[in-house]
Amino acid sequence: PVFWIVIPAAGVGSRMGADKPKQYLELAGRTVIERTLDCFLGHPRIAGIVVAISADDPFWPVLECAADPRIVRAPGGRERVDSVRSALDLLLPSAAPADWVLVHDAARPLLAGDDLQRLIDALQDDPVGGILATPARDTMKRVDGSGAIDCTVDRSTLWHALTPQMFRFGLLRECLARAAEAGWTLTDEASAIEAAGMHPRVVEGRADNLKITRPEDMLYAQWLLSQRT
Ligand code: C5P
Repeated sequence: PVFWIVIPAAGVGSRMGADKPKQYLELAGRTVIERTLDCFLGHPRIAGIVVAISADDPFWPVLECAADPRIVRAPGGRERVDSVRSALDLLLPSAAPADWVLVHDAARPLLAGDDLQRLIDALQDDPVGGILATPARDTMKRVDGSGAIDCTVDRSTLWHALTPQMFRFGLLRECLARAAEAGWTLTDEASAIEAAGMHPRVVEGRADNLKITRPEDMLYAQWLLSQRT
């Protein structure tokens, strides 16, 4: 099978409160997005990488990886899902419907090589695909609009959705188009597949595959990196 990587990297990162989008912050001497790309560039089976970048983004073109022939740039969109769709459109001439696409947030630079490999190994013969995920660790509550607890949700049925999310190119493109037509708000790829009545698999991944969101995440990510090297 052929594997393509899609990296949505067109967010502004407002929750970070930094002077540039979080994917361009430096994490132990290297930008977050370069670390994220490194997770895939070393893998022998990747056919190509598409990054979705905002049209007016001045930070991407100056990175060394912007000139890497294995990486192509697609225009970013208004929401994350629009950026992913834009990247998939760019792949259309090259990718076959049954090829695999792994969508991975630019803001997750700590994806471990063994997690990536386990995801691929677990799903590559699957008709649909699935996602890296990690079991919920806290006690989980359903809360109503007024802030009062309705009930406690059985934690053993709840998982945090991580990325990469790995689906067949043709199926993912179709399901995302259908979701856009219906006006649904999606925060990941799997929800588009679920909405079409399919059941993506979860593959248990490391909880430290964190998405850089708030300033304290940078400190935690720095510490995690120092522990790995
Ligand atoms: O904001 P959030 O952390 O959910 O973003 C997840 C990923 O989606 C980030 O890598 C961000 O750059 C990307 N994104 C995008 N286009 C948008 C919004 C977010 O590519 N319009």
